[in-house]
Amino acid sequence: MKTRMTELFGIQYPIMCGGMFTLAVPKLCAAISEAGALGNLTAAMYPTADDLRNAIREVRKLTSKPFCVNVTMLPAMRISDEHYENWFRVVAEEGVAGMEIGGKPLDKLGNGQWIKILHDAGVKLMHKVGAVKHGKHAEESGYDAVIAAGVEEGGHPLNENVTSMVLTQKMAETLNIPVISTGGCCTGRALAASLCLGGEGIMFASRFICTPECDVHDNVRQELIRRQENETVLYGNAIGLQGRALLNDTMREVLKIEAEPGGTMEEKLMRVLPLIAGTHGPTIWREGNLNIGSINVGQSIGLIHKVMPVRELIQEIVQEAEKQVAKAGRAILPAPVKAAAKKPSPKKTRAGAGRKRKAKAKTKNKPKARKAKTASRRKRK
Ligand SMILES: Cc1cc2nc3c(=O)[nH]c(=O)nc-3n(C[C@H](O)[C@H](O)[C@H](O)COP(=O)(O)O)c2cc1C
Repeated sequence: MKTRMTELFGIQYPIMCGGMFTLAVPKLCAAISEAGALGNLTAAMYPTADDLRNAIREVRKLTSKPFCVNVTMLPAMRISDEHYENWFRVVAEEGVAGMEIGGKPLDKLGNGQWIKILHDAGVKLMHKVGAVKHGKHAEESGYDAVIAAGVEEGGHPLNENVTSMVLTQKMAETLNIPVISTGGCCTGRALAASLCLGGEGIMFASRFICTPECDVHDNVRQELIRRQENETVLYGNAIGLQGRALLNDTMREVLKIEAEPGGTMEEKLMRVLPLIAGTHGPTIWREGNLNIGSINVGQSIGLIHKVMPVRELIQEIVQEAEKQVAKAGRAILPAPVKAAAKKPSPKKTRAGAGRKRKAKAKTKNKPKARKAKTASRRKRK
């Protein structure tokens, strides 16, 4: 396949993995890149610059293909700018193919030098945004692509709640840089749709959890297969950071606290934070207890039917997309040829037809007549 997304990163298929705290680690990242898509290494997993550098090098031991690093700059993460800058420095020094940036735009970090530093190092930059105005800002400040993140996505969709269907189209008609669709976009149908909507490919994360290469307890995979698209909830509006997560006991408790009348945002935040903190990660992912903490998956869980190795999953998506695009092509029938004006012409009357026949015969006989004339002229000589 060839789109502006595959050209940008030098990958085989216009498919990439989104950042996943705890889960987007070297093994999964490399498996995705090896399968011809763009793997993702999530920086927030690595407390120091050297830890991130070692993780990048670990990916390189497993694959020589391009991959990207995710850096999410949300105020709620309470990470210092200096820490972010250390990660960016490492990514530039290691010459990683791409970066998926979420939250604060890169031109607002430090004294705005990072876009140039990363570009000079050959790193292509994508900003994950939920609004066209943020996409425009990314384009104007020099990003190479935007990821149109619809409200269907797991993680932290923007609270404007626009769907990936509308965002992809609106961004494609507004921006010149490539648009990548995310939020419920984990099938061949979604890839075909993105291409038809003006997008250049898809990104997903939730679907990758149900692959053997993703290091989670099997309970997690089976539970995501069992759950449907209407079993995630949006939470966090009362604490200033919207999220989407699997509906479980923790989420019921969070929504109850948020709905209580009165109380300041800060007070609610103090009660909600311990429930959704990343400290529950090991209990959820490694022990397979899905009733603790926030499990930030998207509506696309309704589209997961079985555990599949990454390579098979990517191949299935590609083949399905080709099938759907061909089907769409067949549905668009050639425009019917316009019938000639019905007005009866004199030529079409019986007399007219007779005249036409004679005229035709005349022209047809012309060469013979000319031959006969030449012959008689010769005889006379
Ligand atoms: C378990 C999990 C953890 C995630 N962690 C992050 C993260 O650390 N940073 C980030 O930018 N996005 C994160 N996301 C969001 C994804 O990168 C992506 O935007 C989203 O999941 C795509 O939509 P999907 O849910 O339909 O796959 C996470 C998603 C999941 C499922």
